[in-house]
Amino acid sequence: VNVAIVGNGRMGSKLAALLKQAGATVTPVGRGGAVPKDATIVVLAVPYPEVMDALAAAGDLSGRIIADMVNPIGPGLQLATGLTTSAAEEIQREQPRARVVKAFNTVFAELLDRKYGKREKPPQVMICGDDAAAKAEVVKLIELVGLEPYDCGPLVVARFLEPIGGLIVHLAYGQNRGTRIAPRLDQY
Ligand SMILES: NC(=O)c1ccc[n+]([C@@H]2O[C@H](COP(=O)([O-])OP(=O)(O)OC[C@H]3O[C@@H](n4cnc5c(N)ncnc54)[C@H](OP(=O)(O)O)[C@@H]3O)[C@@H](O)[C@H]2O)c1
Repeated sequence: VNVAIVGNGRMGSKLAALLKQAGATVTPVGRGGAVPKDATIVVLAVPYPEVMDALAAAGDLSGRIIADMVNPIGPGLQLATGLTTSAAEEIQREQPRARVVKAFNTVFAELLDRKYGKREKPPQVMICGDDAAAKAEVVKLIELVGLEPYDCGPLVVARFLEPIGGLIVHLAYGQNRGTRIAPRLDQY
């Protein structure tokens, strides 16, 4: 798999390292950088206020998969968008012919640090998106880095997944509970 990672901060750099270890071709893309033509999956790992600049520099991503991990958190740990849209839907609107999949926004970078044993449950990566084939590719990417995918449905569900990202940020930083927590959905 050929992956471009836009944004090389805590999440982007760790995901890049894990994917490389797993044998993927990974191109880090920094500020103002264009996404290589042969990258089939573009992981968007920039802060919310930078999303539109990063997309403008990335070029036309028609047909490509955008794995969007952005949590639209603004000042005071408040959600910066929601109710009638989401960061994921804004990204889809900006790149209408790309295939946007929300993924990784509910997992802290610190949980990408270690391998999970066969007998323990790895952190869940909740995803949503409208393109089933694109979601299947993102599921493979999640499994490649040793995490557990959980499909939450169509892209509109990002309106609910982004507040879950907001919840863990609130717990970790607003309430000082640390970043070694992850939400999971179990079936009973
Ligand atoms: N940290 C987490 O645990 C976590 C978990 C889930 C989701 N997220 C989400 O993931 C995204 C990245 O978070 P992070 O914690 O990795 O942030 P971070 O450590 O602050 O890193 C952000 C990176 O994006 C780069 N960047 C900024 N604007 C850019 C642009 N226009 N084009 C290309 N690169 C650009 C920054 O480069 P410069 O150094 O030049 O500024 C930096 O390398 C955010 O949307 C966040 O909400 C984070």
